[in-house]
Amino acid sequence: MSKNQLLIFDTTLRDGEQSPGAAMTREEKLRIARQLEKMRVDIIEAGFAAASPGDFAAIHSIAEAIKDSAVCSLARANENDVRRAGEAIKPAARGRIHTFIATSPIHMEKKLRMHPDDVVAAAVKAVKLAREYTDDVEFSAEDAVRSNFDFLCRIFDAVIQAGATTINVPDTVGYSIPVQWGERMRALIEHVPNSDRVIWSTHCHNDLGLAVANSLAAVLNGARQVECTINGLGERAGNAAVEEIVMAVRTRKDLFPVETRIDATQIVPASRLVSQITGYVVQPNKAIVGANAFAHESGIHQDGVLKHRETYEIMRAEDVGWHANKLSLGKLSGRNAFRTKLAELGIELASEEILNTAFARFKELADKKREIFDEDLQALVSEEMVTPEVEHYKLVASKFHSETGELPRAELTLSLGGAEQRAESTGSGPVDATFKAIESVAGSGSDLLLFSVNAITTGTDAQGEVTVRLAKAGRIVNGQGADTDIIVASAKAYLNALNKLHAGPERVNPQL
Ligand code: KIV
Ligand code: ZN
Repeated sequence: MSKNQLLIFDTTLRDGEQSPGAAMTREEKLRIARQLEKMRVDIIEAGFAAASPGDFAAIHSIAEAIKDSAVCSLARANENDVRRAGEAIKPAARGRIHTFIATSPIHMEKKLRMHPDDVVAAAVKAVKLAREYTDDVEFSAEDAVRSNFDFLCRIFDAVIQAGATTINVPDTVGYSIPVQWGERMRALIEHVPNSDRVIWSTHCHNDLGLAVANSLAAVLNGARQVECTINGLGERAGNAAVEEIVMAVRTRKDLFPVETRIDATQIVPASRLVSQITGYVVQPNKAIVGANAFAHESGIHQDGVLKHRETYEIMRAEDVGWHANKLSLGKLSGRNAFRTKLAELGIELASEEILNTAFARFKELADKKREIFDEDLQALVSEEMVTPEVEHYKLVASKFHSETGELPRAELTLSLGGAEQRAESTGSGPVDATFKAIESVAGSGSDLLLFSVNAITTGTDAQGEVTVRLAKAGRIVNGQGADTDIIVASAKAYLNALNKLHAGPERVNPQL
């Protein structure tokens, strides 16, 4: 690998999935992985194999499907985790095991309750075992930011000798500031024996809003892998955002002596896909992928941009994939065009039967909506991909009444495990009435944490995409629904969240 190559390690499917409610199904993860491959990320961290059988299966499927990016599984530094990771990545053209253990005094004493010598021994053992499965082994020192420098040097030296090929330095709690983080990376590379035999990596959380700045400081000081996520998704305040890292090094080539192989035109499609699948809406003023990122509001700016674009624009919207959501299909498109378009979007439907239902739904949508964009298809297909066994609650029919001076009313027919039931309620608005009607038969007892509506595309005929976040007994799930009628979209989103609570596979969080 050239000294100037900056590897992009995407952890949307692992650290990103640790965001509350962002758990994804195997099909959803596969769709995101295909988009990441299209975007040409170097390494896809597909999950944490030991977390649950579902996580294992998702990593295994991604390892089978992805050819151009390396596929990685996280593993704590213990035998079971490493073996599960090794089995999960087996089909990969290039597979990586990423093993980690905490190295800060507070984590070793209070969380692991391990002596530092035993931490080093566990790390070495895990790396050696991982090398039996693959020659691409990454080691991370969790909470490196609050770890003792000499201890970090000691454990990194030991794992390099044991066969680690990438050394990752995480700011797990988002505590660092750029000047300090850059200096830590520089000092580690200088002091750790054989540091030139490995790739140095950084993984920064955004608790102080500095994840990207810290990652870039590490790059300026020798890091050649950045761990990041689409839209900056991730634990708490999230991780460094892939799109910001890639565009920063590309736009400021004068400062960064590195290159990535990312196809930046796939950034906006990736951002939309992840937002749509996880229900994590992108804030309008988010750099690169926010709706306003390239919108010039003030007259002075508009005038300047019209005269000469570079007066106010440092990047071109089309270079990061804006306007790439070309008109997809229309009312007259046939089944083959529909199938081809889905393939272009990296979507494979499990059977001809699902394709037929999706096509019928597409025709219905095309009757209501003049133009159908890629995002419309993504939303439509997401609903078709819900497998019947996890679709306990289903909307069969709906009727809403809303009139000045009267309480809004919802009358629904729902299917609960195959049996139809009627449900009705009034509420302060039609959405409130709908949710109350659903609860009157579902009786989930969950708390509604979030309700948000977004237009998927422009125009008043756009589909509304609704996210509903529910919490029950410590579990948090996000449900999504899309429809040109936002009350129907809301009902679908609520039912989707209930289905997730109902299916509820329990998973282990690697960092607890
Ligand atoms: O934040 C962190 O420390 C992690 C590690 C597992 C790399 O996510
Ligand atoms: Zn992390």
